[in-house]
Amino acid sequence: MATAERIYGVLLSETMDLKTYYSLDFGGAAPDVCLLNPDEVTRPEDIRFAACWLPGPDAFAPYPNLEMAMSVGAGVDALLNHSGLNKDVAVCRVRDPHQAHLMAGYAVHEVVHFEREFPQMARNQVAANWDPLPIRAPADLKVVVLGNGSMGAAIVRALAAVGFAVSVACRRPPEDPIAGVTYFTGDNSVAESVVGMNVVINTLPLTAHTENVLNANLFSRLAKGAWLVQIGRGEHLAEADFIAALESGQLSGATLDVFRTEPLPADHPFWQDQRLRITPHIASDTMPHIVSEQVLLSARELLSGAPLSLSVNSAQGY
Ligand code: GLV
Repeated sequence: MATAERIYGVLLSETMDLKTYYSLDFGGAAPDVCLLNPDEVTRPEDIRFAACWLPGPDAFAPYPNLEMAMSVGAGVDALLNHSGLNKDVAVCRVRDPHQAHLMAGYAVHEVVHFEREFPQMARNQVAANWDPLPIRAPADLKVVVLGNGSMGAAIVRALAAVGFAVSVACRRPPEDPIAGVTYFTGDNSVAESVVGMNVVINTLPLTAHTENVLNANLFSRLAKGAWLVQIGRGEHLAEADFIAALESGQLSGATLDVFRTEPLPADHPFWQDQRLRITPHIASDTMPHIVSEQVLLSARELLSGAPLSLSVNSAQGY
């Protein structure tokens, strides 16, 4: 089926119908790029790229000539950690400028929800109880953001704009530091930054260094009764340590948007735990039209032999 002017790709996901969700059926609009579901592929050897979200364990096996695997989301952990993906396959990702704003809105919402005690307000409403709580200055709430990538930095800007006392843990010093924000840099930045914090927001990429980073040691450094906003990846959270921190009151609760298994199984105890606020991985998502544009762009770069402008640094892990 291959011709020199046409490039073939495959859509790989265990959890989503990518073609429908992201409008990846280019049809007549892009005669040079043909994206197929696995059951539509008749000549696997012609497949040169894959567009992926949580590909299954054997997803890449049928395609011997794959040159590029692209994540339709910002995270590439599911590709870089995939044992079936050859190391010489270039990894790319969608870069959607809207995602950082979505993340910032979500994070500010959760911090304010905790800070202004909205759960108590909801209980008061049921009892028709007008009972304002004393107002505290936002600057009295210490919030730390783990990670200063495009998502982390947007959250930091938004939290600082409404007056919270914001710290950041990042590996390298920021290129454009925000006045009034405290930056902790280097290999110990996470441990140093969380001391005495009331809220910790995790936006770290998932790498070998960051797996289980939300653990007993980190929780013990927070202020008593702190709140966790977990919008990184499920594998960042050491779940037994997390439950212990909730039981001891070291954490008063958490907002969880990402999980080790997604969708979160119906019988998972997190669903019933009143200390948790659970959302289905919607803190941010890529816009379908941007996914479609950037998958086309990357496929055409591959077809023409141009450098892949959306590739990630595999050694760094993001
Ligand atoms: C969301 O988690 C993404 O990777 O885009």
